[in-house]
Amino acid sequence: MTATLIDGASVAASLVRRIAVLASRFEATTGRKPGLSVCIVGDDPASAVYVRAKEKRATSAGFESRVLRKDASLSPPQLQGDLLGTIAALNAEEETDGILVQLPLPSGLQERAIIEAIDPRKDVDGFHTENSGKLLCGIDDGFVPCTPFGCLHLLKRHFSQKGESIEGKRALVLGRSNIVGKPMALLLLAEHASIAIAHSRSRDLPDLCREAEILVAAVGRANFVQGDWIRQGAVVVDVGINREAGKLVGDVCFAEAQKKAAAITPVPGGVGPMTIAMLLWNTLVSAHRRAQLPPPRLEAE
Ligand code: GUN
Repeated sequence: MTATLIDGASVAASLVRRIAVLASRFEATTGRKPGLSVCIVGDDPASAVYVRAKEKRATSAGFESRVLRKDASLSPPQLQGDLLGTIAALNAEEETDGILVQLPLPSGLQERAIIEAIDPRKDVDGFHTENSGKLLCGIDDGFVPCTPFGCLHLLKRHFSQKGESIEGKRALVLGRSNIVGKPMALLLLAEHASIAIAHSRSRDLPDLCREAEILVAAVGRANFVQGDWIRQGAVVVDVGINREAGKLVGDVCFAEAQKKAAAITPVPGGVGPMTIAMLLWNTLVSAHRRAQLPPPRLEAE
């Protein structure tokens, strides 16, 4: 069996086309574009690539997109103060619907204090504890972190095309970060999957993986998940973006996994483009809430 490819790039492109239509309607109604402000601190090359991609997509979808760059040569306390000042200004700014601080931050900065300073109503990353709490409790007027939100969208779409659903399936999330692993598990639970989370200290990882009908790999280690860890017929979502010998590879040994899985996301072209689409979606939702308009709908009328 060769796995079906879950083509995140094309799903994301069609979502962004729909978002662009809704953004132009928003502009026609309110006289302004949905606004996204991204802060980037220092010169981490991977972060620079991600931020450039976010800016490009936002602009092409008809958003007002701004990148605020902070020079990491300042001392950590100065940088912390500068960033907190910028966030306070963005919180107060009428035209900014979404605020994103690209992670990771340089060492010496207090990441949690910075995230908590963002107005939760503009926290389109969904990292503020108010939004994490809403996800935990199933309150749907917050924001869901973009990468797991994108993974969920791909999984729901895949199963619905097959006349199936996530409900009742055994899902394993590899990784327990606040950005991906923990929210991913909560989202799958909300879809009525039986969930487990495994991590670097889990015992018998291959056996845990073999139990999973849905496997989401978010460990940040190139080709970590071996083909014989994958259950025959599993659906595999690979969140990893690792650079190896000048190439991008996922957390899953793709060539091996393709022989076992029913469906799998490729790297690149799987989860990555979905993260950006969901960021634009969250920003569009924020813009509608702030303008007291009815929520946008993903399905075309
Ligand atoms: N770094 C890696 N992924 C993300 C993300 O989704 N949001 C932010 N702000 N930083 C990241």
